[in-house]
Amino acid sequence: MTYEPFIAEETTDTVAVYPGTFDPITMGHIDIIRRALEIFDRVIIAVARNPAKTPLFSLEERLQMIRDSFTSEEDGRIEIEAVEGLLVDFAYRKGAKAIVRGLRAVSDFDYEFQMALMNRRLEREVETVFLMTAFRWIYISSSIIKDAARHGGDISGLVPDHVCERLREKFLR
Ligand code: COA
Repeated sequence: MTYEPFIAEETTDTVAVYPGTFDPITMGHIDIIRRALEIFDRVIIAVARNPAKTPLFSLEERLQMIRDSFTSEEDGRIEIEAVEGLLVDFAYRKGAKAIVRGLRAVSDFDYEFQMALMNRRLEREVETVFLMTAFRWIYISSSIIKDAARHGGDISGLVPDHVCERLREKFLR
């Protein structure tokens, strides 16, 4: 990691951190990021290693798929970084005012509520902001997409084309 502990970056921009495992990035994630860009000047996509989830894609593959999902115009306002350790420490160091999370259904609420309260207890200067996932992406998750792809299902339109291709390559092996 390149950041120093507990020294916040000075910025006049309003910055948000959007964390996740992104194994892989889906259209649901992209929708939340684009909508967060309507509210914040910059969005830092924080990619967790998350060994607990034993990701299908390596950290580098996940970072690359995210990079390939945005236009060069959006690129200027997006940063993509791997995150280790406490998310709120990372957000604080980056000068972020908020952590953005997408809510899909009531079933997401308990986990998100718990995480938001814990994060608030750990760092009061960073708020959690929830965006409702667009209706068309409400049923998707990275796991369900991987499961469909593993069994040869058509997942086009649910992830960017280049992600479809990567999934196809993974499961052909
Ligand atoms: N559209 C589609 N899918 C979505 C979505 C959306 N808008 N929002 C979430 N999801 C899916 C993800 O694909 C993921 O699917 P999966 O479980 O099949 O992989 C699932 O919902 C939830 O994952 P995600 O939003 O990526 O979060 P996560 O649980 O993978 O990551 C961290 C959680 C990384 C944010 C959290 O563990 C963290 O902050 N870790 C750092 C350590 C720390 O600070 N811990 C203390 C936290 S209180």
